Amino acid sequence: MANTIIKFNGVEKRYGDTVSLKKIDFELEQGKFYTLLGPSGCGKTTILRILAGFTDASAGTVTFKGKRINDLPANQRKINTVFQDYALFPHLNVYDNVAFGLVLKKTTKTVIKQKVSEALRLVRLSGYAEREINELSGGQQQRVAIARAIVNEPEVLLLDEPLSALDAKLRTAMQVELRQLQQRLGITFLFVTHDQGEALAMSDEIFVMNNGEILQQGSPVAIYDEPINHFVANFIGESNIVKGKMVADHQVEFVHQCFECVDAGMRPNEPVEVVLRPEDLDLTSVDQGNLVVTVDTQVFRGSIYGIMSHDHAGNHWLIHSVHQSTVGRQVGIYFEPEDIHVMRYGESEAEFDARLEQYEGEADEKI
Ligand SMILES: Nc1ncnc2c1ncn2[C@@H]1O[C@H](COP(=O)(O)OP(=O)(O)OP(=O)(O)O)[C@@H](O)[C@H]1O
Ligand SMILES: [Mg+2]
Repeated sequence: MANTIIKFNGVEKRYGDTVSLKKIDFELEQGKFYTLLGPSGCGKTTILRILAGFTDASAGTVTFKGKRINDLPANQRKINTVFQDYALFPHLNVYDNVAFGLVLKKTTKTVIKQKVSEALRLVRLSGYAEREINELSGGQQQRVAIARAIVNEPEVLLLDEPLSALDAKLRTAMQVELRQLQQRLGITFLFVTHDQGEALAMSDEIFVMNNGEILQQGSPVAIYDEPINHFVANFIGESNIVKGKMVADHQVEFVHQCFECVDAGMRPNEPVEVVLRPEDLDLTSVDQGNLVVTVDTQVFRGSIYGIMSHDHAGNHWLIHSVHQSTVGRQVGIYFEPEDIHVMRYGESEAEFDARLEQYEGEADEKI
């Protein structure tokens, strides 16, 4: 990559017999917003700690602008961290909290003043310099923590679940603010969350993690539209996942029926899993549907109804519809070939990418 700033090459972390990270490889480009997304315990914080220099990798190399930094002390890395609990000093006011790192570096008072006011301006807290920490709201404390990190002019900012303590409304507002701040600063952000909506809303690129591994990397749209496996499909958004088999290229069988699809490049009759997103399913009459289901429950969600149903084979189907249905009624569900996402069992990300490229190539030939 042209503007690579950070590179992890075969990075592992073990604590005794426990493997917390298994051979992690990734590259971060300058000026982009990246998110590590995964359930509790999957290794997100461990990646940040290795990158920040708070803990060593058990194997592998970490490079910053092409130079190996495994042995570089944390305070010499142009990387700063915003912690989940903010870790502010309660006995210091806002100004002194933000100035703390600069004072340690023996920066002159005039320069400190200038840099602290600039950092407070960037997080929209000008005028709060003299406030005590306990006189601030959660969102304001969060911004002080960010100001304290950016005042050191890092080239990479690491943020470990910084929004998890905020209520839903403030959290959404802060997501927008953080994204705008990253764009104003033009530096690389590596953000950690286990909230998929947050990851989709904020990131240029998402790394979906589970069990110490990165399962899939891609833009929010790519990850949502083309999840590589069951875990990713389930973790990102709501999905209907059923077992099926790839009869031939562009032909997949599930619920004992054969459907046209866009996927190809598998062995005939290979067992697969099929993903259909609830918003891609249209509610229709029994004779117009590709599948017939019985409605079990329906929940009004504000802009849509969430309709749970089941087919004759016992699979559950969640449908998002602007129209309501009737519990107990038989209805049809209709979808197009491109709404069917086929996943091969145990496929690696590289194999998945190669297969996608192959049928994107085929589509180009047809044009
Ligand atoms: N100091 C340690 N000693 C032993 N095991 C550890 C240590 N730190 C982390 N681990 C283990 O490493 C794994 C990854 O931990 P990590 O903190 O990176 O997870 P996480 O994805 O940040 O989770 P969360 O979302 O809960 O913060 C966990 O199984 C954890 O128990
Ligand atoms: Mg963590």
